[in-house]
Amino acid sequence: MCGILAVVNSKLSPEALRLQTLTLQRLVRHRGPDGSGIHVVETPTGARCSSVAHERLAIVDPLSGNQPLFSHDRSRSLTVNGEIYNHKQLRAELKDPTAFRTESDCEVIVHGYDEFGVDIASKLDGDFAFVILDDQTGDVYAARDPVGVNSLYMGTGLDGSTWFSSEAKPLVTGGCIDVRIFPPGHYYLARGGEEEGRLVPYYAPSWHSASAATQPLNLEKLRTTFTAAVEKRLMADVPYGVLLSGGLDSSLVASVIARLKRKRFLEHGKPVKSFSIGLDGSPDLANAQKVGEFIGTEHYGFSFTVQEGIDAISDVIYHLERYDVTTICAGMPMFLLARKIKAMGIKMVMSGEGADETLAGYLYFHKAPNGTELHAECVRKVAALNQFDCLRANKATMAHGLEVRVPFLDRGMLDATMTLDPDFKLTRKGEKTQFLEKWALREAFNVPTEPFLPHEVLFRQKEQFSDGVGYSWIDGLKEHAGKVISDEDMATAPIRFPYNTPGTKEAAYFRTIFHSHFPNNNYGNGIEATVPGGPSVACSTAKAIEWDEAWSDPTKQDQSGRFVDTHDAAVA
Ligand SMILES: *[C@@H]1O[C@H](CO)[C@@H](O)[C@H](O)[C@H]1NC(C)=O
Repeated sequence: MCGILAVVNSKLSPEALRLQTLTLQRLVRHRGPDGSGIHVVETPTGARCSSVAHERLAIVDPLSGNQPLFSHDRSRSLTVNGEIYNHKQLRAELKDPTAFRTESDCEVIVHGYDEFGVDIASKLDGDFAFVILDDQTGDVYAARDPVGVNSLYMGTGLDGSTWFSSEAKPLVTGGCIDVRIFPPGHYYLARGGEEEGRLVPYYAPSWHSASAATQPLNLEKLRTTFTAAVEKRLMADVPYGVLLSGGLDSSLVASVIARLKRKRFLEHGKPVKSFSIGLDGSPDLANAQKVGEFIGTEHYGFSFTVQEGIDAISDVIYHLERYDVTTICAGMPMFLLARKIKAMGIKMVMSGEGADETLAGYLYFHKAPNGTELHAECVRKVAALNQFDCLRANKATMAHGLEVRVPFLDRGMLDATMTLDPDFKLTRKGEKTQFLEKWALREAFNVPTEPFLPHEVLFRQKEQFSDGVGYSWIDGLKEHAGKVISDEDMATAPIRFPYNTPGTKEAAYFRTIFHSHFPNNNYGNGIEATVPGGPSVACSTAKAIEWDEAWSDPTKQDQSGRFVDTHDAAVA
């Protein structure tokens, strides 16, 4: 991944815009410490100018893939944070046989735009956020991947300029009067001379409607689709590894990588490295170690203390650009782990995000009354991923220039899991393994002759805190927030934070730190408005309570908005 920044139709002089862009692009340099580049151009009418800038994390073609990338006639420039897994196929589809200038998987985007126009976004199989400037026409084209695996923000400058960046930081510091999330699965197009562009959805899979989710369960297809999704993501010219929490999803990713690697390199390859983190003695660490031994990875388990977690909070809030308790608490271990992984010379890791949303893995799904309801909730969870697990994975790792790839959110995998008849995601009590959530996935990888995972891992029920966030971390954090945030602080919170007013001391603590990094007017039209709060966060809670009254009891809800539903109760 990388960091991008583009400022379009600025009233600054080309020299001043260049200097401003160079200054602000430093704020996303952590995302790509390997190289930077910039291109500044006057609009065809000469009245305004635009810039595209790039901070590069080199994963494919480290030697020559610097950006911006240009069209063959150099009239169009591209800055992109992306991994394009079908770049070779797309290249073969192009009519213009002119040789590419680099081996970068991303170069095909700019040539593809020359031939396919705005349809190029829908042809890409990968994770991406990019901006293309056309020097001759003044057109601007930007797009973000279907689910929002890669982050992208946009905003409006005081002079009417339009801004795009991988993170909100350059927009906030650059004085944008609003900062918005660029919606996943959309492209933006502004024709030369138009002040305002428009956002157009390009990703409209059939499964957005429940009536399309009718596919029968095909275990072998599910297994081969997932294996292909992992294999595509091995595209890298630098050392990579895998995040292994010991839970089902990350263990499957790790197992498939280990198997593919053995197949590719026979016995000559070194084992793949796997990484986990947890509080000392946490069950996650032991589980991950056991899985690592079983599948034959070179496993590294790191532990952290509650104090180390508290010490990192300010950095986590700065990098994640969030103040909601869920995201900061769950993002912290990944933030600490990413730093250790990067220090070991690894630049890319694969991870298990997305299986719970696509395959109904959260425990409250046990109470879904029927398949139609369950499907609608899965669609909603997938749409929210860019605000939650994807954002957290992306920014917690990119804080240290580590790229994360998520095979469960592969385009083919989404089609396979989301068109599945939702009855196969319902848990069925008493029918052997079928009382377990995600049983279709478990059965797909239940190959006793050549087991992917130890039986007890493949068939273990979801743990509430499977991402290294132990109860003692949450308790320690609450205790600390109780010390630094007084009752008087809470009483004045509605005045200081009129938008998304924090309701607990932890939330007030995070919010105070957030605004030390991002001073703003706090009325809901700045960066604070990019953080979901109130009703949107409570959405899963509302659905769970609708499905089962018992969940209205707040003692059954944990910090992550998931449900402390005893395993016995789930199975009963
Ligand atoms: C599914 O459950 C919901 C809520 O109980 C109900 O309104 C709906 O009619 C049900 N649909 C089917 C197809 O049974």
